[in-house]
Amino acid sequence: MAVTRTFSIIKPDATRRNLTGAVTAMLEDAGLRVVASKRIHMTREQAEGFYAVHRERPFFSELVDFMISAPVVVQVLEGEDAVKRNRDVMGATNPADAAEGTIRKTYAESIEANSVHGSDSDENAAIEIAFFFKPEEIVG
Ligand code: CMP
Repeated sequence: MAVTRTFSIIKPDATRRNLTGAVTAMLEDAGLRVVASKRIHMTREQAEGFYAVHRERPFFSELVDFMISAPVVVQVLEGEDAVKRNRDVMGATNPADAAEGTIRKTYAESIEANSVHGSDSDENAAIEIAFFFKPEEIVG
């Protein structure tokens, strides 16, 4: 299995509750290595750009408002089959559907305040990593 990278966001509901370390520990326990990390307060432009694929969805403006409501931690994660590994430990988008032991089952408050984002494919991981990180900021 190849070592690959994925992109993660620890969302405002988690940073507000001081869960950055707890969430990161679950990522690390799942076999992922944090090779880049920064705490930022997203601008509206950044959030709208990042979630542009959801622009037509009814929840778009609420999603953007939520993502700029408090700091987030953006991370690059590395590991074997990193996209799938991260999605497995995150759990389903809606915490009501998430499996026991996943980050969202453990910490998420709602489908919107669902504690973490993770890329859904290698292609999108590369796009999302480049959205927030310069190559020299990623140290594997
Ligand atoms: P994320 O993986 O960050 O990608 C888009 C986000 O939209 C998703 O996680 C959810 O937190 C958020 N969202 C809010 N409402 C919905 C909804 N009804 N269906 C899907 N995603 C939603």
